[in-house]
Amino acid sequence: MKIFLDTGNLKEIEALVPLGIVDGVTTNPSLMAKEGGDPRAIIRSICELVQGPVSAEVVATEWQAMVTEGRELAAIDSHVVVKVPFTRDGVRACKVLAGDEIRVNVTLIFSATQALIAAKVGAAYVSPFIGRLDDIASDGMGLVRQIVDIFDAHQFMTEVLVASVRGPMHIVEAARMGADVCTCPVSVVEACFKHPLTDIGLEKFLKDWEKAQASRP
Ligand code: E4P
Repeated sequence: MKIFLDTGNLKEIEALVPLGIVDGVTTNPSLMAKEGGDPRAIIRSICELVQGPVSAEVVATEWQAMVTEGRELAAIDSHVVVKVPFTRDGVRACKVLAGDEIRVNVTLIFSATQALIAAKVGAAYVSPFIGRLDDIASDGMGLVRQIVDIFDAHQFMTEVLVASVRGPMHIVEAARMGADVCTCPVSVVEACFKHPLTDIGLEKFLKDWEKAQASRP
């Protein structure tokens, strides 16, 4: 399963890319607004840092304007994946952009029927927002299971990109279910590096090693 970073922050991306675990990046208008500056310049810089898919979302809401904006975003770099929201206009825009061989990530997916429709119009990715479903006492991971089953049964090439991830257990469950991608805030990736037994174990190894060195003749 691929791991994407869900951020528009260049410093966060720069810090994790050298570890070799970042397969791509997703952004959204809220994340880009947080960064300030020129969003297209930021997307270009992200593409220079990450040799993988970088989702950039349209802010237009009418399908023709979405197509125009999507083509402009795709022209920034060959790594750009155009993100459109799941609306009637978004679906129509996805169909046109996919016809242009532009990869589209259909976002704000909250039901299996939405994912099925997005796959039928050629989406490269669908983004079910599992954390936001969990927040309202719905089963976010259950939705991922439904989408994976449907795509497997009908051999859709569309990848399941698990989004709105809140913690490491979402990564584990997404991987067990056979999701293609999990996009994570940096805080969730950092949490995967923390384990008290690893820290305690390393401390003991190093202490034992030092003791042995000190007692050498
Ligand atoms: C996905 O592409 C979205 O950017 C993101 O995962 C949304 O997450 P949130 O629900 O934490 O805002």
